[in-house]
Amino acid sequence: MALTKKQLIIIGSILTIVIIGLIVGITVGIAVGRQKSTPLTVEQQAYQILEKNPLIDGHNDLAWLIRANFQNNINNLDLYNMTQYPVKNDTPSHTDIPRLRQGQVGGQFWSIYTNCKHLGKDATISFLEQIDIMNRIIAKYSDVFQMATTAEEVRQAFSAKRIASLFGVEGGQAIESSFSILRLFYQLGVRYMTLTHNCNTPWADQNQVDRVNSTLIKNNGLTEFGKKIVIEMNRLGMLVDLSHASKQTMIDVLNITQSPVIFSHSSAFSLCNHTRNVQDDVLELVKKNQGIVMITFAPIFITCNLTNVGTVVDVAAHINHIRNIVGIDSIGLGGDYDGISETPNDLEDVSKYPKLIAYLLSQENWTHDDIIKLIGGNILRVMEKNEQIAKELQKTMKPQEGLIDRKELEVHNLTQCRNLDMYPTK
Ligand SMILES: *[C@@H]1O[C@H](CO)[C@@H](O)[C@H](O)[C@H]1NC(C)=O
Ligand SMILES: *[C@@H]1O[C@H](CO)[C@@H](O)[C@H](O)[C@H]1NC(C)=O
Ligand SMILES: *[C@@H]1O[C@H](CO)[C@@H](O)[C@H](O)[C@H]1NC(C)=O
Ligand SMILES: *[C@@H]1O[C@H](CO)[C@@H](O)[C@H](O)[C@H]1NC(C)=O
Ligand SMILES: *[C@@H]1O[C@H](CO)[C@@H](O)[C@H](O)[C@H]1NC(C)=O
Ligand SMILES: *[C@@H]1O[C@H](CO)[C@@H](O)[C@H](O)[C@H]1NC(C)=O
Ligand SMILES: *[C@@H]1O[C@H](CO)[C@@H](O)[C@H](O)[C@H]1NC(C)=O
Ligand SMILES: [Zn+2]
Repeated sequence: MALTKKQLIIIGSILTIVIIGLIVGITVGIAVGRQKSTPLTVEQQAYQILEKNPLIDGHNDLAWLIRANFQNNINNLDLYNMTQYPVKNDTPSHTDIPRLRQGQVGGQFWSIYTNCKHLGKDATISFLEQIDIMNRIIAKYSDVFQMATTAEEVRQAFSAKRIASLFGVEGGQAIESSFSILRLFYQLGVRYMTLTHNCNTPWADQNQVDRVNSTLIKNNGLTEFGKKIVIEMNRLGMLVDLSHASKQTMIDVLNITQSPVIFSHSSAFSLCNHTRNVQDDVLELVKKNQGIVMITFAPIFITCNLTNVGTVVDVAAHINHIRNIVGIDSIGLGGDYDGISETPNDLEDVSKYPKLIAYLLSQENWTHDDIIKLIGGNILRVMEKNEQIAKELQKTMKPQEGLIDRKELEVHNLTQCRNLDMYPTK
């Protein structure tokens, strides 16, 4: 039977579709096959890992840079380009939005920090000003940043493609020895407190007491009041940060804390003998505690050499050393960008994390799963554990009450700016 013209057109169309389908199928097949047979470069692998898993850095001092250089005025500051502004030490800011995006930063503990000169005077005021500046940055760029106070909220921000923004108070001087202020910082979203900066508090020693020939007055680690601060932090679910603390403070905290601790920005003492770094015997205790050391990039803690800022290779050596002691589950990254005036070569600013990841991937002993733990998996685990333990403790423990001993304030000359109304009159 002869086919009609209409039937011929239909058959023709079907054949055309089948042929196009075959061509497309074969092309895609070849492309996929090629992709499988050509291994991805370490750079491509780093990109893919960071696309799917949050990199959460432990310490960034952008808020401090804005205080020190711009008096916390951000209404006319463009966080899309911070390189255009001169800053005091002549090295432009390490942090702005395009570079955070280029660095594929998924979450950031923003350091809430002011220097020790405020201690005993307006420390709490100045720290509150730093929380306010971060709140305003997050609000001004709400399509970029999203506040996070729990591991779950970090994951939510990351899936919304915003940078999870966490607060860490750097320096116990912030609370002026008051449980009330500690609790209020928690309410404002602060999720870690570094027990000291480079000054002692009346209840915890800082690292400089460990310097050779130090003449600083010592508490010899954590005082009884300091222990109560740590327990209250456990109860609240605020991570205890031991960066900047003295070795004895670290040991004392690790002996009594109920929750895993963090070092938000410290490296390995046995590779660079500096009191800001963590000694191997303390690393053993961190392993037992299931805490985390977030390795920092500050050249002086990495190379111990003022004329050599080092490279990504030197930073990786610290990561490897610490990993070899504490294990793969207890390492992280805490760059300290904008808290340092110099940076290692190849790690100049927040856009460079992928270079570090690519370098680690080029070492055969770093699997993708290892990288995922290092960049953020571990700190999320530590946060979750602190959240869980806090819930448990809150079932039985009451909030801490009482004051620091008046004598402890006096020894540290911290009574001049206080009206000691809650102490019995002398
Ligand atoms: C930032 O500003 C500087 C100076 O105005 C300019 O040279 C640079 O191209 C800008 N960078 C971006 C990413 O816009
Ligand atoms: C520490 O003090 C001793 C005795 O005064 C001195 O010999 C030594 O050089 C000092 N060390 C340092 C690192 O300053
Ligand atoms: C740990 O703390 C307990 C009391 O809570 C104390 O008896 C013990 O000596 C401490 N151990 C170390 C190594 O500090
Ligand atoms: C660190 O180095 C100093 C000299 O710079 C030395 O006195 C001290 O003993 C070293 N500390 C350790 C624990 O090795
Ligand atoms: C410090 O670094 C400089 C420059 O790289 C190098 O020449 C010097 O030998 C280093 N010093 C030490 C003590 O390693
Ligand atoms: C991984 O391998 C490199 C190169 O062989 C080595 O330097 C590094 O210490 C190793 N890392 C760990 C964690 O063992
Ligand atoms: C407190 O002040 C006295 C007298 O001004 C001084 O001698 C002492 O070193 C100060 N103590 C501290 C911890 O700063
Ligand atoms: Zn610091």
